Amino acid sequence: RQPLVIAIDGPAAAGKGTLAQRLAQAYELPYLDTGLLYRAVGRLAHEAGVDLDDPDAAGSVARRLQTEHLEDPNLRGREAGERASRVAAHYPVRTALLAFQQNFAHRPEGAVLDGRDIGTVICPDADVKIFVTASPEVRARRRSDELIAKGRDAPYERILAETRERDARDAGRAIAPLKPAADAHLLDTSDLDIEAAFRAACQIVDDVLARRAERD
Ligand code: C5P
Repeated sequence: RQPLVIAIDGPAAAGKGTLAQRLAQAYELPYLDTGLLYRAVGRLAHEAGVDLDDPDAAGSVARRLQTEHLEDPNLRGREAGERASRVAAHYPVRTALLAFQQNFAHRPEGAVLDGRDIGTVICPDADVKIFVTASPEVRARRRSDELIAKGRDAPYERILAETRERDARDAGRAIAPLKPAADAHLLDTSDLDIEAAFRAACQIVDDVLARRAERD
């Protein structure tokens, strides 16, 4: 079969990670969470005492990134996300991570990638592009509930402020800002649970596959 490449973008906590994993499973495709790359760079830079706001210093950290750095379980936390979004604003960092992501996407078996610039920069030719959104209030509520369920201190108001701050930084940066590709399907999950979001995404993928089958 012809390889299928699915690009999933959107802001933090819109549900894109879960959605991307479910799609990867359903369509039997390898999955790459590209946020992990930026998280790992932020963490390595922090550990090395590098100034996260220095583009060249962060860039040289990004060039030293190895796949084993992605296995660190602490990368999922809020602090790692915050550091990731600081180093992700630098051109040398994004350039250093480009080839790894594109090689992953161009594997013969196809791929699902999720991030902020997959449909716009990394895989502009992706077969399916989905931009997953939800209101900042809904995303902050979900994140806060999730953290509280894990026994963490995560008041809604604080999480909402952090969500807004990260959105502003990701959407406002000069390079590869968070925005939907012109040909992306918008999927607003504000009023959808994960099952409903997954069904909607499958519909989008199936339509693309059906059109492709018709064409061939
Ligand atoms: O998706 P996740 O929350 O793990 O991403 C962490 C940060 O990494 C984002 O806030 C964003 O600044 C950056 N990122 C990016 N481009 C990607 C994936 C993540 O700039 N493709």
